[in-house]
Amino acid sequence: MHVADPPWWHSGVIYQIAVSSFSDANGDGRGDLRGIIDKLDYLNDGTPASLGVDAIWLTPITGSPLRDFGYDVSDYRSINPRFGTMADFEALLAECHARGIRVIMDLALNHTSDEHPWFLESRSSRDNPRRDWYVWRDGKAFRRPPNRWRAVIESSAWTRDPRTGQFYYHAFLPFQPDLNWRNPAVRDEMFATARFWLDKGVDGFRLDLINFLYEDEHLRNNPYQPGWHPYGWQRHLYDRSQPESFETVRTLRHLADAYPGRALMGEVYTDRPEDCLACLGDGTDALHLAFYLNFATRWWHARDYRRSVEWLEAHIPPSAWPCYYLNNHDLPRTYSRLSRRKRRDAEPRAKLAAAMLLTLRGTPILYYGEEIGMPTSHLPRRQFDDPVGKRLWPLPFGRDGSRTPMQWTAEEGAGFSDGEPWLPLDASYAVRNVADEGDDPHSLLIWYRRLIRLRSETPALREGSYRTIAGTPKDVFAYVREAEGQQVAVFLNFSGRVRDVGRCLRAGVGTHQNAEGNTGPDADADRVWRVLLSTRHAAGEEIDRDAAQLDGYEVLIVGQA
Ligand code: GLC
Repeated sequence: MHVADPPWWHSGVIYQIAVSSFSDANGDGRGDLRGIIDKLDYLNDGTPASLGVDAIWLTPITGSPLRDFGYDVSDYRSINPRFGTMADFEALLAECHARGIRVIMDLALNHTSDEHPWFLESRSSRDNPRRDWYVWRDGKAFRRPPNRWRAVIESSAWTRDPRTGQFYYHAFLPFQPDLNWRNPAVRDEMFATARFWLDKGVDGFRLDLINFLYEDEHLRNNPYQPGWHPYGWQRHLYDRSQPESFETVRTLRHLADAYPGRALMGEVYTDRPEDCLACLGDGTDALHLAFYLNFATRWWHARDYRRSVEWLEAHIPPSAWPCYYLNNHDLPRTYSRLSRRKRRDAEPRAKLAAAMLLTLRGTPILYYGEEIGMPTSHLPRRQFDDPVGKRLWPLPFGRDGSRTPMQWTAEEGAGFSDGEPWLPLDASYAVRNVADEGDDPHSLLIWYRRLIRLRSETPALREGSYRTIAGTPKDVFAYVREAEGQQVAVFLNFSGRVRDVGRCLRAGVGTHQNAEGNTGPDADADRVWRVLLSTRHAAGEEIDRDAAQLDGYEVLIVGQA
C-alpha cells in the first residue's frame, strides 16, 4: 500500500452479517462461522463475479443465551458454541485476511446478560465484591424505582430484585443489566476484553450503544417532551450521551491505536445527530466511524436525504469521515420500507437507494440480503424470536422480519441450511436469491456488484469531496464528487416520472454554491459528460446536456475527467 493511501475503513465497503442467519454449515438450522467461511468467495474472490466488499462485521458471536441475538453477553472471551469454536473463528480470520477481507466484531460494552456470572454474583448480596459492577440503587419506596428513566423498550429502566430489595438499572431489557462504568474494575476488564480480540487479529469493533455507557451520577430525571412512544416522551439528557461516555470513546481509540490498521465504529443511538459528532471527536482522537441514524431513518423524499447528508457534511470535522447505512438488524428492510404498498416500485427504488449509499462521501455499510432485495418478512407471532417483538406485539416493532435466513437458492432451505431454519425463510426466496439474481444482468445483485466495482475503481467516488448540485427539480437528489481533477456527478430521480436536469447540466454540473447560496457556473462547464453507470444508458455514452432528462427512478452517474 502506498503511504498516502487511505485506510481500508475509509475507502472500503463494509458488509454486516447477522451470523445466525447467513449460512449454516452444520445443519442445526442456525448460521455459523464455518458457514461464513463457505461463502467468502461470494463476498470477495477478487474478481468482478463477487460482491467485492472489503470488510465484514459480525453480529455478536461470544458466549450468550441468545435471548437478544447475542447482545446479551454471558462470556466476552469465548465463542458461542452455537456458532462454532475458537478454532473456527481463527480459521475465519485467516481465510478473510487471505482474501484481503477485514473482520469487525460486535462488542456490547454497556450491559451483559443477567446470566453472566458477574451479574449472578452481583445480585447475590449487597456486600458481594461484584455488587458494584452493576448499577444498584434503593427505590424511592417499596415499588417505586429510584427515578423516572425508561428503558428503550417501554417500561421503567429499573427492576427490583427481591433478593436484596434494591433496583438494578437496564437501559434495554430487564435481562440486560447495565454495567457500572464508574467502577474502574469494570473499565479495566472491558478494555482487556478489547485487547484480547485485537491480539487475536480482529480488525476492529462495532461498539454497541456506545453513547449509553454512563448515566448521570445524580440520577437526575429527564424532562418530558411530546413523542410517539413512552421512551420518546423523555428528552434523554441524563441517561445517555454523557460526557464520560465520549471520554471513554477516546480511551478506546487510544487503546486501538496501539494496533495499526484497526478501526472502531460506534452505534450511536440518539435523536441528536450532534451525539454522533461527539463520538467522532476531532476525527483523529475518537471513533473512526459513527453510525448516522438520522440518514438511515429517512422516508422516500429526495429532499430529506439531501438535508441529512448536507447536515453531516456541514458539521463533520475535516479530519473525520462519514459513514452511511440504510439497513441493519434493528430496522425494517428498505426493500419494503421505501416502496409503496403494491411494491411495483420496490426494485427501481432499491436500485436508487443502493446507488445513493455507494456514491456518497463516506463508508457504506450493507446488511446481508439487502443486495438481493430481501423484504421485511411477516412472521406469525408464535414464530417470533426477538424479545422486543414479543413484548410490544401487536405494535409492529419486532425485528425478526429483517433477520430471516439469507436466500442463496430457490431450493428447499434456500441454500441456507439443511435443517429447520431458526427463523422461517421469507417466501420470496423462490424468486429473490443469489443464484437466480447472479444469472440475471438486470438484477439488483448485479447492480450492487457494478456499483461497488465502480466505487472501488473511481477515486472521486471513494475519496472525493462532496457538493450538492443546486437547482435540480425537488424530487431529484444530485451531487458532485471530485478528486484528483476528476469529477463524477450523480443524479437520483426519486420520482416515478420524467424529470429534466438539462438546466443544471447546462449551467455546469460542477456548480459551486457560495456561502450566500448563490450559484455560478463551473469553469469546466464545456466538458463532455460520459455515463459511468446508469439504470438506463450504456456506460461510455455521452450525455446531451441540452436534452438531459431522467426517467422515473433513474440513476445516472456521469464522469468528466
Ligand atoms: C443495539 C443492538 C440491538 C440490541 C440492543 C441492546 O441497539 O443493535 O440489536 O437489541 O443494542 O443490546
